[in-house]
Amino acid sequence: MEQEEPKISEGLKGVYITKSSICKVDGEKGKLYFRGYSIESLAKNSTYEEVCYLLLYGKLPTRSELDDFTYKLREERDLPKETLRLIKKLAEKTDPNDLTRTAISSLSVLDKETTDNSKEANIQRSIKLISKTASIVGAISRYRTRKRYVKPDMNMTHAQNILYMISGKRPLDKASKLMDTMLILHAEHSTNASTFATLVTASTLAGIYSAVTAGVSALKGPLHGGADEAALEMMKEIGDPNNTEKFIEDELSKKERVMGFGHRVYKTYDPRARILKEYLENLQNDSNDEVKKLTQIAMRAEKLMVEKLGASHGIWPNVDFFAGPIYTWLGIPHEIFDPIFAASRMVGWCAHTIEYLDNNVLFRPLEEYIGKEDLEYIPINNRV
Ligand code: SDX
Repeated sequence: MEQEEPKISEGLKGVYITKSSICKVDGEKGKLYFRGYSIESLAKNSTYEEVCYLLLYGKLPTRSELDDFTYKLREERDLPKETLRLIKKLAEKTDPNDLTRTAISSLSVLDKETTDNSKEANIQRSIKLISKTASIVGAISRYRTRKRYVKPDMNMTHAQNILYMISGKRPLDKASKLMDTMLILHAEHSTNASTFATLVTASTLAGIYSAVTAGVSALKGPLHGGADEAALEMMKEIGDPNNTEKFIEDELSKKERVMGFGHRVYKTYDPRARILKEYLENLQNDSNDEVKKLTQIAMRAEKLMVEKLGASHGIWPNVDFFAGPIYTWLGIPHEIFDPIFAASRMVGWCAHTIEYLDNNVLFRPLEEYIGKEDLEYIPINNRV
């Protein structure tokens, strides 16, 4: 019987791999929901700690549940001495994204009960991972520029503490609120490439530390989490806002991808980018010349890209485009953008791991073999 032509979906485009109740991404309408709550309502009303609880437990916490969860997160901010030593040793000579991955991986040194794969045990591990990844970002940010390590402050919110560990100074409330919103917007996004990498690894029962290490590895790429840094570098390369349109036109004529635009699922404006654009516009009266110039370039690039490729090609700004000027306003070096993305998305990777393990099925896709078959083995002395 004639063998049926296998149906191949490059990059798993359009393929559903599982069912989930964590996150809905509506690519046609440009809507995003975490456990049924819109990203707009969470960005406006919630906090990163509350969103972590929502993603992990599937419901908004009561006041006492949130207080207890927040206390547990703060308790876990300190890093194992082995992890700190590793970061200090490598920070000046290692890419911050690679070092974030290595440091996250080292956290398994804490885990004595690796055989307990229960939901409760993985939630406790998730709290450790969420909290300690933020401290890892702080440590890398300091050690890579030969500054002393700033110990986490247990009296600060998650967002405040990240900024404090990076800068060594107590952040202003406006900065803390903005950082908190950045963390919320980046926390989760269904089965994106890094979350899928996490699930594939989790499905072998390798454990949550291995799973999230796979996730942070995938996030680094400029087609995924690394786009925020690449987009800012493009804005810096443009330099003068009056060069924007020519630069973008040149890139498009060379069939280059403009970083921070396009998305596999959103075929309209990424709702997170819409929120970030508004935040960036509202920062103008409180920005230095560098951020003002970056903002003008970003707005002019966005206008041109939307005119040229928006409705016609379904290529719109995504979460990564406006992030760079905002992180710059927050005083965060571009090398730390993606480690912060990883710190925020840690909760999404953990929530999906826990949910998927409830009905675990090993990922093992097929490929259509197009090579040779049944070749005769020629001894090496007879080969030409
Ligand atoms: C994130 O998946 C998620 O949810 C990810 C994320 C999350 O929160 O986890 O939302 C975060 O990763 C956002 C995306 C960040 N990446 C970038 O900004 C990098 C630039 N964008 C592109 O590389 C691209 O848009 C992707 C990778 C994001 C999506 O690409 P697809 O769906 O695989 O589409 P494609 O690469 O096949 O492109 C289709 C066409 C191509 O043209 P043709 O070859 O058909 O002529 O659109 C063009 C592409 O060249 N195109 C672009 C473009 N993106 C796609 N052209 C110019 N600039 C771009 N940015």
